[in-house]
Amino acid sequence: MKTRFIFPLVALAVSFSVNSVWAQEAFKIGLILPMTGPSASTGKQIEAAARLYMAQNGSTVAGRKIELVIKDDGGVPDATKRMAQELVVNEKVGVLSGFGLTPLALATAPIATQSKTPMVVMAAATSSITEASPFIVRTSFTLPQCAVAMGDWAPKNGMKRVVTLVTDYGPGIDAERYFKERMLLNSAQVVESLRVPLRNPDFAPFLQKVRDLKPDALFVFVPSGTGAAVMKQFLERGMDKAGIKLIGTGDLTDDDQLNDMGEGALGVVTSHHYSAAHPSALNKKFVDAFKKANNGLRPNFMAVGGYDGMRVIYEALKNTKGGQGGGEAMLAAMKGQIFESPRGQIYIDAQTRDVVQNIYLRKVEKKDGELYNVEFDVIKDMKDPGKAK
Ligand code: DHB
Repeated sequence: MKTRFIFPLVALAVSFSVNSVWAQEAFKIGLILPMTGPSASTGKQIEAAARLYMAQNGSTVAGRKIELVIKDDGGVPDATKRMAQELVVNEKVGVLSGFGLTPLALATAPIATQSKTPMVVMAAATSSITEASPFIVRTSFTLPQCAVAMGDWAPKNGMKRVVTLVTDYGPGIDAERYFKERMLLNSAQVVESLRVPLRNPDFAPFLQKVRDLKPDALFVFVPSGTGAAVMKQFLERGMDKAGIKLIGTGDLTDDDQLNDMGEGALGVVTSHHYSAAHPSALNKKFVDAFKKANNGLRPNFMAVGGYDGMRVIYEALKNTKGGQGGGEAMLAAMKGQIFESPRGQIYIDAQTRDVVQNIYLRKVEKKDGELYNVEFDVIKDMKDPGKAK
């Protein structure tokens, strides 16, 4: 009699305390970024965007407090991996996020798989990254998306002989390959493919070679933070005056640096998924709020990848009532999300877990006294061309 009465009470008390402890426990988001080193601007942009998202959307979701745990990997893959391990094992994060460069994302993928922790890639953009773990979801972009768009645009605009110059690692090799393939399909040629090292690149000897080859255009991919150096050396050598057009993926005319590149950048055409000048009400609101919170800093494509990554995490938390069901339930709730981003409408393809989005053709123009990538054409809802292979 007694036990029959006490038992349900004990069970109720235990379940109540477990639930309330669980609800009181913060949901931790591990955010691993290069805050120092050559990719520090990527870390700065993404951290600022994540903080803005939280300031605008609150730090409690589905009754659970959200805690952002930020780690600086300095852009070194071994550090990223070690930090991810530490975040999963000691901090018990529910999501890993960030990943400023391809090697950093690839180094961490096995940790996401082993621990069944969703890994939101907010920056790195080599096509194959999403295939490195079934727990990876990407909110940035892929280089094949941009390179294909440019490989169609350039030949239609008189550029039949082009030299490519890319940074010699994953995203650069993707850019080179998909641009060249598309040029060939359009009966145009890549007459030389040049690759510069990721660490301490010296563009001078490569640009001299390009000058000697006298192509119609030079197509460039360099990672965020490097475009200004290429632009400076291109102009110093008078390559524009020699009749060589400069084109590339939008990483070249990165909004983080563009306004300091000077008038020589005017007219450069690039293909990309985000411009701070994207003419939508949502983007205007985003750019204004980001600048206000960050001393006038203009958000770039890295910021947007971080902002949208936070959105994907927040919505997954709402749909799982605060992360119930663990990493697998969170992952399932990330797949298939469709929403309006500051870049335009995007969705997370449920099969590939990669971002599907518009790719814009943009030209550097002066607007209100500042340099911007002004969109003039769009390829709608582009899936990653790398996935079809
Ligand atoms: C990658 C890094 C960048 O800074 C960028 O602009 C594009 C791609 C990368 O390492 O994947």
